[in-house]
Amino acid sequence: MRKAIYPGSFDPVTNGHVDIIRRSLRLFDEVVVAILVNPTKQALFTIEERRDMILEAVASDRVRVEFFDGLLVQFAASRGASAIVRGIRAVADYEYELQMAHMNRRLEPGVETVFLMSADEYSYVSSRLIKEVASLGGAITGLVPATVEARLKARFAPAGPEE
Ligand code: PNS
Repeated sequence: MRKAIYPGSFDPVTNGHVDIIRRSLRLFDEVVVAILVNPTKQALFTIEERRDMILEAVASDRVRVEFFDGLLVQFAASRGASAIVRGIRAVADYEYELQMAHMNRRLEPGVETVFLMSADEYSYVSSRLIKEVASLGGAITGLVPATVEARLKARFAPAGPEE
């Protein structure tokens, strides 16, 4: 049984993330999407909302969503995972990802980092840009799952007139 951890903030999940999860399922029997619990980082969605959006977007009995804090490799080892999956969109991602992969291997040589190239149609998509565009009323259709688009619209809808 090959298990992989796909870690991140997922605030919110994008179609780029969903594509990586789907492709990971071709390589692994089970993918645990691991949402980092980071109270110091200001997030738009709660970790529970982020989990629900991932589960709504990817319905598979081979995908689980869990929360983690502390060291990623410790979480991966505790779940019996053989790999950490990360998506690489462009060269700009590579340097930081390489540093993390080396550090993670030093900390836990039993867990491999596997990089998947993002689909080219999502190569410029990030949760940060999605939030910015949505907050300013721009179109994000096709870049995020429909459930995420609906929640972003609700979050950024102009407040109605006060009673
Ligand atoms: O979605 P992100 O912000 O790109 O995900 C970054 C993440 C969660 C993979 C990274 O911050 C992480 O692994 N944090 C857990 C703490 C840890 O293990 N740090 C050492 C990494 S070498």
